[in-house]
Amino acid sequence: MTAVLSCQGVRKLFGPSVVLDGLDLDVAEHEVVALIGASGSGKSTLLRCVNLLEDLDDGTIHLDGAHITDPRINPDLVRRKIGIVFQAYNLFPHLSVLDNITLAPVRVHKRPAASARSQALALLDRIGLASKAAAFPDRLSGGQQQRVAIVRALVNSPRLLLLDEVTSALDPELVGEVLDLIRDLKADGMTMVLATHEMTFARQVADRVCFLDAGRILEQGSPEQVLDNPVEARTQQFLRRLAPA
Ligand SMILES: Nc1ncnc2c1ncn2[C@@H]1O[C@H](COP(=O)(O)OP(=O)(O)OP(=O)(O)O)[C@@H](O)[C@H]1O
Ligand SMILES: [Mg+2]
Repeated sequence: MTAVLSCQGVRKLFGPSVVLDGLDLDVAEHEVVALIGASGSGKSTLLRCVNLLEDLDDGTIHLDGAHITDPRINPDLVRRKIGIVFQAYNLFPHLSVLDNITLAPVRVHKRPAASARSQALALLDRIGLASKAAAFPDRLSGGQQQRVAIVRALVNSPRLLLLDEVTSALDPELVGEVLDLIRDLKADGMTMVLATHEMTFARQVADRVCFLDAGRILEQGSPEQVLDNPVEARTQQFLRRLAPA
């Protein structure tokens, strides 16, 4: 079976520093992979490389078997198949919730406005925010804004959803509603790669946890394997620092 996402030998430098050092990662259809690791270990950079927001210095990335890091490829066509959500909601403050969701599909991907709107409304309805379609983002709670940002990433029915610290800017009482949405997406079979500092989140949603260290995946396995019984000393040290006894 072809992986939805296949990263092979991905290498990325910023100036002299090697951030990704020949990283390999395959993600199967319906699989949810959590990337963990120290701050600066390259989690966000990897997600940005997959979404073609960064050029690779070496290696290849394939999506559904298609070589997307081929320089001849149109990045907009690739990004249509990959949804990405960042830590800060990144909603456009001057656009309504509905316009936030339909802007890219209509302007960039040239989808008919009516179909993008009806799909956006259906998605908003699903997350209980249909009544907020005409509201501006500043009238929504942080959790509502982040759920709108996730819906915006879903409106092109992507093959892959990338989530970068989507709960870390939220007040603790708002995290639950975002996690519930991500759990729903998992139940629907969405293939996801998420970067997180929250091990409970990784444990709850991930099929596989990957520990990034020095620009590679040092250790990976089920949440129980990696979070409860890590083999590598670096993983043990990272987890110990997170949860002092
Ligand atoms: N545009 C950039 N220019 C220069 N250096 C960068 C750039 N983006 C990231 N870096 C560096 O690359 C390294 C990896 O950063 P990255 O944001 O991928 O880490 P991360 O694992 O997501 O960390 P965090 O857990 O804090 O989010 C860091 O040392 C960072 O300073
Ligand atoms: Mg990051």
